[in-house]
Amino acid sequence: MTSPALAAIAALPQADLKSVFDTDPDRLEKLVLRQGPIRFDWSKTHLTDDVMAGFLKLAEEQGFAAQRDALFSGFAVNNTEGRAAEHPAERGEGNADSVARAKVLHGRMRALIDAIEAGALGDVRHILHIGIGGSALGPKLIVDALDGDGVRYDVAIVSNVDGTALERAIEGFDPHATLIAVASKTFTTTETMLNAASAINWLVEAGVEDPYGRVIALTAAPDKAIEWGVDETRILPFAESVGGRYSLWSSIGFPAALALGWDAFESLLEGAAAMDRHFRLSPPAENAPLIAAFVDQYYTGVLGCQTRALFAYDERLALLPSYLQQLEMESNGKSVKRDGTPVDGPTAPITWGGVGTDAQHAVFQLLHQGTILTPVEFIASIEPGNTLDPAHHRALLVNCFAQGAALMRGKENADDPARAYPGNRPSTTILLDDVTPEALGALIAFYEHRTFANAVLMGINPFDQFGVELGKEIAKSIEANGPTGFDPSTMALIGLALGE
Ligand code: F6P
Repeated sequence: MTSPALAAIAALPQADLKSVFDTDPDRLEKLVLRQGPIRFDWSKTHLTDDVMAGFLKLAEEQGFAAQRDALFSGFAVNNTEGRAAEHPAERGEGNADSVARAKVLHGRMRALIDAIEAGALGDVRHILHIGIGGSALGPKLIVDALDGDGVRYDVAIVSNVDGTALERAIEGFDPHATLIAVASKTFTTTETMLNAASAINWLVEAGVEDPYGRVIALTAAPDKAIEWGVDETRILPFAESVGGRYSLWSSIGFPAALALGWDAFESLLEGAAAMDRHFRLSPPAENAPLIAAFVDQYYTGVLGCQTRALFAYDERLALLPSYLQQLEMESNGKSVKRDGTPVDGPTAPITWGGVGTDAQHAVFQLLHQGTILTPVEFIASIEPGNTLDPAHHRALLVNCFAQGAALMRGKENADDPARAYPGNRPSTTILLDDVTPEALGALIAFYEHRTFANAVLMGINPFDQFGVELGKEIAKSIEANGPTGFDPSTMALIGLALGE
């Protein structure tokens, strides 16, 4: 830990959560922040006035304000790849030229959606979206979270190269009424291209006359899509400067915009834009993504926690943990700083989680009594996502809040240590007014900026992902050259399972 500010924070006495509210009566006021439809509560974490002051120094030491300006100005903040990270421009925030370009591309997307709705592509009842990683997780989350009564199409989002995924997805789909969206920033990703080819075969076998005419390409590489067989009029491009895991706001969000309607998609963008403005304009001490990053850094950088857990107490947000796994771990799971020198402390922890109350009956034992300290994050909504007896939603929220209180408070048991709870275990609660498009947009943008703020505090570049390349290269080499020159274990596995 070479950062003087971080070392100073580590030297501070650690608060005991069991008594923090007694020692600071204003604590709730200080550590709750409302931004639009979302209320953030960090009062059950170890943030204190002194820790907060220490992190404000760290942010200054790391040039947070200048780096944030660079992000929004369209500067090449992704220094290892020499490009900007312009997801905010998709929401109308950032460099004026990039915002204008994004508006034009959104206009094109909207026009195609209008045409589909007017019947230009014939009967469309099912959408088969094929993409992986950032080209799947975002649309999947949005469609799953928001597909209430208003959904007009069946949407299946297929990512895995395992044919079982595609086969299951198209079960029950009429090939003559299916639109295929091939989503790939590069339009070269093996899994996506193989799934797309198999989807085309499915249409051919069903006698669909012009199978490529049923394909929409969502990509930053339109030339590759044309080469593959998609007509230019059905290509929805997006800018190269929009990173894959930050791309749901671009044409990658097409299935969501089509299935949920353009108004919902626009509200999603507006919610995100409001969070952009909050992040860009709020002073550090009142800045939700930055404060959340302080909490993250306290647990990983100072206390050495190796994971952080996240539980959505709302079925509509069930896919949030897997979406955030890519956002946080692909962005910040790094070993070198922006200048290529080794990092001097831990970087991103492992993000994991699930839905409440299910998770309470599966993994919470470890959170309450295990030996590995795990900061927990609860996400819930005041309004329910269902019309059943309100007792359901009440029970859901009561359980969520009880878990946070139990983790913090603990319970002594002098007679039976197996039944004692140590307490002093941290949690953050993020409470939405409701899971609306606007709130979801703001929530996802919050996580994006928090990930960026974490990267700034650690001095790393969150926008590249070279770590995913080596495995892909080896797989390609086995496909191209056969299994030669590998270790005995790999050779034996290939021999046994593939007969080569
Ligand atoms: O392998 C990782 C990755 O590059 C992600 O960053 C990206 O979201 C995903 O693959 C898919 O890439 P593409 O959109 O180019 O198919």
